[in-house]
Amino acid sequence: MPFSRIIGTGGYLPERVLTNTDIENLVDTTDSWIIARSGIRERRIVAEDEFTCDLAEKASRKAIQAAGKRPSDIDLIIVATSTPDVVFPSTACLLQERLGIIGPPAFDVQAVCAGFLFAIDVADKFIRTQSAKCALVVGAETFSRILDWSDRRTCVLFGDGAGAVILESSDEPGILSTHLHSDGRFKDLLCVPTGVSRNYQKLQDGGAYVTMEGGEVFRWAVTAMSDIVQETLDANSMTLDQIDWLVPHQANSRIISAIGKRLGLPVNKVVMTVEKHGNTSAASVPLALDEAVRDHRVKPGNFVLIEGFGGGFTWGSAMIKM
Ligand code: COA
Repeated sequence: MPFSRIIGTGGYLPERVLTNTDIENLVDTTDSWIIARSGIRERRIVAEDEFTCDLAEKASRKAIQAAGKRPSDIDLIIVATSTPDVVFPSTACLLQERLGIIGPPAFDVQAVCAGFLFAIDVADKFIRTQSAKCALVVGAETFSRILDWSDRRTCVLFGDGAGAVILESSDEPGILSTHLHSDGRFKDLLCVPTGVSRNYQKLQDGGAYVTMEGGEVFRWAVTAMSDIVQETLDANSMTLDQIDWLVPHQANSRIISAIGKRLGLPVNKVVMTVEKHGNTSAASVPLALDEAVRDHRVKPGNFVLIEGFGGGFTWGSAMIKM
């Protein structure tokens, strides 16, 4: 059975920068509070006429170029997003049309901030079972559109962006293992309680916004993302010192530091990019991976453990040999 390998990464952040000082003009908060509680200094916000698929397209083109491929080489497209352009068609189908790829399957997966891990898991299985040879896997979000900009508990934490990888079939590993979990009992702790089938009138009247029990989410995120690192190591008969890099979901520097401390992982093995773009949900892990690949922290042959955690709750990880 072949492996899937990451052969190219790409990322894109919208041009408009919204600093903590800018947010001080919107809600009762301070730059120092936001930095102390989240590590976030600024985030990117889409232009009025910019949508999730626009970000996905830019990140995808960079990943395709980095992989030395053409769009016509791609035979599977998966987009992880909770902020699709429209209810349907999927953002993956919109992206497919933009890239001029005709025929192969294109679909979205929705697992909020863990979405990219779910998408990677599915793409890996397509490749391992020889249903695809070259997959484009994207995490893309415009969370600024589902934030209540008068709610200081949430609006300071999130931003917009997209990240992408190209996975190719290979005799060499590759993705060594993937691990996914969900627990719907916690559905109310981090959610957008408005939708198309439920509370549609509210959506028409006032919009759909993220609500969150911050303290509870913090505790669960640290526990789940620490435990899944151990699960991933055990599945590969590896120890922590054999990982070159941990690329965790970029929600909050305090969550990331707490995971590192709990595991006993030195900070110089953890990729942290959250201060520059906040929590970009499904885009966070591929954006962080792309940055670390492009600045040569992550090198060919490195063992990289990626992991995410999001609303649902959902959480997942993958052990990758780059
Ligand atoms: N600016 C200033 N004060 C704020 C604030 C803001 N942006 N947001 C909340 N506060 C206030 C609260 O109202 C509270 O005031 P009170 O004590 O008068 O009620 C006080 O700060 C402390 O709030 P608390 O919730 O205890 O802070 P915290 O240390 O838990 O930090 C979060 C809040 C949201 C930063 C933290 O809980 C967190 O990071 N949670 C996880 C969020 C996350 O990553 N979600 C996505 C996961 S995918």
